[in-house]
Amino acid sequence: MTDVATLSWTAALPPSALDEHGVAKAVVNGLSVALYVVDGEYFATADLCTHGQASLSDGYLDGELIECPLHQGTFNVKTGAAVDAPCSVAVRTFPVKLEDGVLHVGMEA
Ligand code: FES
Repeated sequence: MTDVATLSWTAALPPSALDEHGVAKAVVNGLSVALYVVDGEYFATADLCTHGQASLSDGYLDGELIECPLHQGTFNVKTGAAVDAPCSVAVRTFPVKLEDGVLHVGMEA
């Protein structure tokens, strides 16, 4: 389990960026990340689908599932688990915190 105290936190987006679709893309430390809001809680995954060259932030968020726009596979945004085919490999997740009105993504320093 990741020790959040040792993470490097980087500002990503204001929470309002998630207002329209519940998901938005940010580049954090050179990595494209998809940020989500589910029932007022924030989550982040790698933006690239593990099945192909598709951006999960262009997908459809349904509860805690993000549907990939390319082949409609899904991932649980809380755990990164692949839920529906053709996705079978989990997507990487990152911790998120709201600080000074901005969502920050935590990554290993
Ligand atoms: S590229 Fe995402 S489901 Fe195929």
